[in-house]
Amino acid sequence: MRIAVVGTGYVGLVTGTCFAEVGIDVTCIDIDERKIENLRQGILPIYEPGLEEMVERNAQKGRLSFSTDLSEVVESCGCEAVFIAVGTPPGEDGSADLKYVLAVARHIGRSLKGYTVVVTKSTVPVGTARKVRQAIAEELEARGEQIDFDVASNPEFLKEGAAIDDFLKPDRIVVGVESERAEQVMSRLYKPFLMNGHPLIFMDIPSAEMTKYAANAMLATKISFMNDVANLCEIMGADVNMVRRGIGSDARIGNKFIYPGIGYGGSCFPKDVKALIKTASENGYAMQVLQAVEQVNERQKSVLFDKVVAHFNGDLAGRTFAVWGLSFKPKTDDMREAPSLVIIERLLEAGARVKAYDPVAMAEARHSLGDRVEYGKDEYEALIDADALLLVTEWPEFRSPNFSVVGKLMKEKVVFDGRNIYDGAELAAKGFAYHGIGVAQ
Ligand code: UGA
Repeated sequence: MRIAVVGTGYVGLVTGTCFAEVGIDVTCIDIDERKIENLRQGILPIYEPGLEEMVERNAQKGRLSFSTDLSEVVESCGCEAVFIAVGTPPGEDGSADLKYVLAVARHIGRSLKGYTVVVTKSTVPVGTARKVRQAIAEELEARGEQIDFDVASNPEFLKEGAAIDDFLKPDRIVVGVESERAEQVMSRLYKPFLMNGHPLIFMDIPSAEMTKYAANAMLATKISFMNDVANLCEIMGADVNMVRRGIGSDARIGNKFIYPGIGYGGSCFPKDVKALIKTASENGYAMQVLQAVEQVNERQKSVLFDKVVAHFNGDLAGRTFAVWGLSFKPKTDDMREAPSLVIIERLLEAGARVKAYDPVAMAEARHSLGDRVEYGKDEYEALIDADALLLVTEWPEFRSPNFSVVGKLMKEKVVFDGRNIYDGAELAAKGFAYHGIGVAQ
């Protein structure tokens, strides 16, 4: 089988590479010439564990190629499916901007030669596949051509940092189709990924589009709910770590995605929650739970800073703070909507000095923080003369540091643990002042 994937961001590159991995011929397309030239040389635009090796292996085998010429690929590759995986950046009002998706659809319409399934893979509002179909149909009509095609919606559920595993061993695959023929093409494409017995679920297109938003919105809701519970635990003298274990062992609730922290970030939850609220309000409905989810998340990003202010009685000017972790979560260099940015900006505004370290995201972080922050060579260097350590992203290498070295490097032994990865009692026994999330002092 042959397919094309348009857009070489997270979604497109992982999708294309994983399809190639199971033996499908894939061409990945992007308008950014430098990106494509780099990909041909094995240089990736993003950090994702295992992806570089997989791109290289499949490119060498000739199953994965890169191009900037969408027309040429669609005209000549004989692709059974073309996946649209370009960005849908949030507009000023929070709604997803479809200009790139629809431009690609028109381009496909101008180049189509034979029956193809055009699949939306980017997260797009309900009703987008219909707009894609209309854009393609208009272009075909302008050409005076009658070529059969179908649109399909195939939302992705991959997590950054675990994207390859999520794609190769999915919990489920959701595909919205409106013809038997498209269902057959999509079934053949996804057959290699169904080995673990998880389902390929076909449904109508609007339901598939809604499934993606509902999934992310539900996960964001779990997190905001737990952040609210954590804050209340602190007030009431309870320990959210215990409460989490207590409720998570109920299978109806589940033990995943109930970790409190400093608020969710990244390119998906914040954007999708906003977009769903917006879609609803445009259609005369208020998503009240989600509005609260968003408010709780915004507030949560300041919780760690507020603890710092309380510990130092508001006197932060001239103090030095070590920050471990900058990316919005471990195993990615993605800084989009990262809570670290809010925390660091607030520390800087208060006149503090910030020394940060992140295993992979420091280059990305420089784009927004520049030289206002000092960057450590490693996590220990960032601690030198610090008044406190703020653990912001739970990278595995931060989980078990040598606390006697940590204590010697720091000016004061104070730890603010934004992800509850340390044992407060153990740290207290080593002479540290410990502040977790949702743990009464
Ligand atoms: C999320 C979803 O998990 C994917 O299924 C979905 O495909 C993706 O969005 C998308 O729409 O493209 P991602 O944003 O990569 O994936 O990252 P997650 O692992 O879901 O984490 C999101 C945020 O929630 C992070 O800031 C993380 O720190 C936070 N989080 C997660 C918590 O605060 N507590 C938890 O218990 C879990």
